[in-house]
Amino acid sequence: MSGFILETKHLTKEFKGFTAVNDVNLKVQRGHIHALIGPNGAGKTTCFNLLTKFLVPTSGQILFNGKDITAAKPAQIARMGVIRSFQISAVFPHLTVLQNVRIGLQRQLGNSFNFWQSERSLNALNDRAMQLLADVDLSEFADTITVDMPYGRKRALEIATTLAMEPELMLLDEPTQGMGHEDVHRVTELIKKVSAGRTILMVEHNMKVVSGICDKISVLQRGAMLAEGSYAEVSSNAQVMEAYMGTEATVLEGAH
Ligand SMILES: Nc1ncnc2c1ncn2[C@@H]1O[C@H](COP(=O)(O)OP(=O)(O)OP(=O)(O)O)[C@@H](O)[C@H]1O
Ligand SMILES: [Mg+2]
Repeated sequence: MSGFILETKHLTKEFKGFTAVNDVNLKVQRGHIHALIGPNGAGKTTCFNLLTKFLVPTSGQILFNGKDITAAKPAQIARMGVIRSFQISAVFPHLTVLQNVRIGLQRQLGNSFNFWQSERSLNALNDRAMQLLADVDLSEFADTITVDMPYGRKRALEIATTLAMEPELMLLDEPTQGMGHEDVHRVTELIKKVSAGRTILMVEHNMKVVSGICDKISVLQRGAMLAEGSYAEVSSNAQVMEAYMGTEATVLEGAH
């Protein structure tokens, strides 16, 4: 099998004549933390929506583990091990932290939303759920109502519910968005930790995070691939610097 877990070939998405994703050839190496960056409106989220089948490409192909998944349905993709953590929190705010992880585990078992299952059978999932909470450093919050947790911890819970589905490829859309320094640091470390044995593709605006943990970076601009490489390579690329000029000129500098 090739070293690429995910590949796109000439991936294109048009919205009424506007090309949001333009002929993108993305190759994600198995085991990597791969960042997709670019100015606002570059097409990053649209790319994710294409990869998870929330949107149908206008043209082009998507290969997962060498298999053409362009025509697959979202649920099929998830079962194959491509799991996305949402930009907007996807956990149930009025359930406890532990309950949210148990629901994630049940989804993985294929009986989604079985709230009516007996408490006893739900308890069978507790050990695994507590292990996942320990993995994301949330053990002490197990019985906390989710909405009462600090924002950064909610994002960690989202990662735990994503892990519950045993992703081979995890897609994270702006995992540190809206966080203060401390939470950014904690979630960055967490992503690094959970990347062991899997592949992560993440959209991230914070260049400190990107430079700190990402093995490879792809830069999108106006829907097209502008540059790819290590952080050192893309951050010294003249076209990339220009792309960020005027919009987010300080973003790349901020990493140093
Ligand atoms: N459903 C849609 N219909 C029409 N245009 C869309 C649609 N979704 C996205 N677009 C446009 O496609 C372009 C890319 O948007 P996208 O959300 O993918 O950018 P992004 O790189 O994720 O930006 P940000 O950093 O702000 O999250 C934007 O110009 C956006 O307005
Ligand atoms: Mg976006």
